[in-house]
Amino acid sequence: MNFGIIDLELFFPKVYVSQSDLETYDNVPKGKYTIGLLQTNMSFPLENEDSVSLALNAFDRLLARTSLDPNSIGRLEVGTESSVDKSKSIKTHLMKLFKKSGNYDVLGVDNINACYGATAALFNALSWCHSPFYDGRYAVVVSTDIAIYEKGPARPTGGCGAIAMIIGPDAPIVLENGHGYCSSFFSHDWDFYKPKMSSEFPTVDGKLSITLYLKAIDYCYTGFKKRFALANNTKQNEKKNIEIENEKKTTEQRQFDLSMTDFAIFHSPFNKMVVKSWARIKYNDWFDNNEIIEGIDEELRKKKKKETRIDRNVENAFRNVSKQSYKEKVEKSNYICAQCGNLYTGSLYGALISLIIDQKEQITGKKVLMFSYGSGIASSMFLLKVKKCPTEAIKSCTRIQEMLDNREKISPQMYTKILDNREENLSKFNYNPQWNPQYMWDGAWYLKQIDEKGRRIYEKN
Ligand code: ACO
Repeated sequence: MNFGIIDLELFFPKVYVSQSDLETYDNVPKGKYTIGLLQTNMSFPLENEDSVSLALNAFDRLLARTSLDPNSIGRLEVGTESSVDKSKSIKTHLMKLFKKSGNYDVLGVDNINACYGATAALFNALSWCHSPFYDGRYAVVVSTDIAIYEKGPARPTGGCGAIAMIIGPDAPIVLENGHGYCSSFFSHDWDFYKPKMSSEFPTVDGKLSITLYLKAIDYCYTGFKKRFALANNTKQNEKKNIEIENEKKTTEQRQFDLSMTDFAIFHSPFNKMVVKSWARIKYNDWFDNNEIIEGIDEELRKKKKKETRIDRNVENAFRNVSKQSYKEKVEKSNYICAQCGNLYTGSLYGALISLIIDQKEQITGKKVLMFSYGSGIASSMFLLKVKKCPTEAIKSCTRIQEMLDNREKISPQMYTKILDNREENLSKFNYNPQWNPQYMWDGAWYLKQIDEKGRRIYEKN
């Protein structure tokens, strides 16, 4: 049935702060955020925006643009780490968009674990499509997040936005089917978490989060290669006469290598992390396959994988030798993160949107290796294939540039004031957030009020 991603819609606030301005304001060495983290601009929410309003905007715009009948949706899953309520899901807020249709038979709730929620939501949606419970309707996956940090080194790695995706049969972008194409790594760790109920700021150990992210890549990529080889080389599969890439299975050993994928895209908290990720993939191949690479000191092989995750010599050596392939296979997916910052659960799918913006029709037939990471840790690596031209997604993604061009640049002073106000008012009841129509998109949903009972009321601009 080729279940997969049929269409995508990205929404981000109208305001942004420039990373270059922020460098000056934060009094850090010039270039630290723009060259060091590879970030250009950062989206952030106004006081009258939250994860619900962002999600409403992404989903509502998707419905309007595609004229998708809400009655044709049987599952709606949300991925987030920016919940505004410990009980009521964001999904239930989105049900207001079904009211006119009278369709209340819509499965799914929120998926929560740091930046992994949208991937969990996508897997849930696809599992439903492949299950006996599937009723022939579409699923929709919405990622929605606000990434804001307290003052300090993590602040420039913030961001904000929501993505809504239609999932269903005969999709242009499909997940390669079967256990040979997905590997995961889950563990109990404390790199990034949100224990303060009255704050939107996470507790984060930045350096540890980078090391654990690389550890998750090591496990997922090694696991992915093992699973691929196992699934593609077992006698059992030979008997089933499975077809791979239109070529009948042979008894010859078949291993995964990077030439089998056109692009690799990664969860991107900031784009320098993606550079580190690709270098790590290259390191893994060199280590696992006993490759000899010019410029790589064979002495490094004496170190165990886990010892090299914080080793700058190893990182620099592999960044160096992977520069060209990074340009070809990875860099094209950086655009949305550079412009909007970390979308948390939406980050990986923002990277996919960036790739579609860059490739347009040329993305047809391409394969994309995906790595999803959520602190804590939840992570997966899987493979997408663009089976046919994603015409609607291309149209939607191409329009994003117009939105980016029409944003309002805000000073770091005003940005800081807005984040301070958010923290101060977060738990207030009887609260009417301030707002200025100049800084809101026309027709956008916004938080009008938190009433005396703590109920959040949304309206359209
Ligand atoms: N010009 C150019 N580059 C510079 C300059 C300069 N003037 N100054 C510093 N740099 C470079 C550094 O060399 C470094 O690059 P490198 O890693 O390629 O060497 C980069 O800028 C960042 O500098 P650091 O000193 O490492 O930055 P710092 O430690 O202050 O903060 C960090 C970085 C830890 C990522 C912080 O922003 C953070 O905690 N972010 C949140 C955590 C996070 O996003 N983790 C990622 C995975 S978890 C998740 O997705 C939320």
